[in-house]
Amino acid sequence: MSITLKGRSVTEDDITAEVLRRFEGTPDPRLREIMLALVRHLHGFVKDVNLTEAEWFNAIQFLTATGQKCDDARQEFILLSDTLGVSMVVDLINHRKPEGATESTVFGPFHRDGAPEMPPGGNIAPRDERGTPTLIRGRVLDLDRRPIAGAQLDVWQADSSGMYDSQYADREALHMRGRFRTDHDGRYLVRTARPVAYTIPNDGPVGQMLRATNRHPWRPAHVHFVVSADGYEPVTTHLFDDADQYLESDTVFAVKDSLVCHFVRRDSHDDTSKSLAIDPPFYTVDFDFVLKPRA
Ligand SMILES: [Fe+2]
Repeated sequence: MSITLKGRSVTEDDITAEVLRRFEGTPDPRLREIMLALVRHLHGFVKDVNLTEAEWFNAIQFLTATGQKCDDARQEFILLSDTLGVSMVVDLINHRKPEGATESTVFGPFHRDGAPEMPPGGNIAPRDERGTPTLIRGRVLDLDRRPIAGAQLDVWQADSSGMYDSQYADREALHMRGRFRTDHDGRYLVRTARPVAYTIPNDGPVGQMLRATNRHPWRPAHVHFVVSADGYEPVTTHLFDDADQYLESDTVFAVKDSLVCHFVRRDSHDDTSKSLAIDPPFYTVDFDFVLKPRA
């Protein structure tokens, strides 16, 4: 198709070339690279699928609704990025880890600042009455497997109903979150409740997309961590439960084999459970985090 404008023949490829030309003079070289690639890929996509005007308007409405669904406690654009696999591609190209370093995965939309600082063994799930007590323990190490003292572990997870604190009516109340420090041997100990699989919020545009494409909204059970220490690159990651049925089909594509852990059921006391007054049965998970030095 071509139209004639002021005597010039204008095709869709002419438009693409002209739009690229207008961005050629972008002063910041990185912004220039991004804008030129964005135009090439976006125009290429539209031509590839022969996008109709109705479909174009649907896309505008979808993105508008995605923005309108966002507020202080709901980040629909992160969910969209996560469910399109974009977040994991960004993660993978930005966090290539040397052998032995703990792998990263998606940050997700549910982190909150201001989680309380807790002593070793502090319970992040004090109001979770249905969950089975779980102790996650191990060390934070460097690449030579030497302990890192004073490392911080920022931990958060959904409760035993599969809900994050910010999804409840009283969204200001913090629950299922805590910040821990390693001791002089690099050891940490987190008390929580065994995580459960949960559905990502699917009452918005992302849920519509999942239903229209015959995809489920489930995430396998996991606990979120950001582990950081002076002089080291922080790692944003999850620990997954190896018994979960959704490990192979996580709706946000975040599972990495090295992050899948075995939750060991304990039917009798050990020293730790005694000192924390946890009655069996409970679960233990052993996992060492390994940080790489800051570049
Ligand atoms: Fe999560």
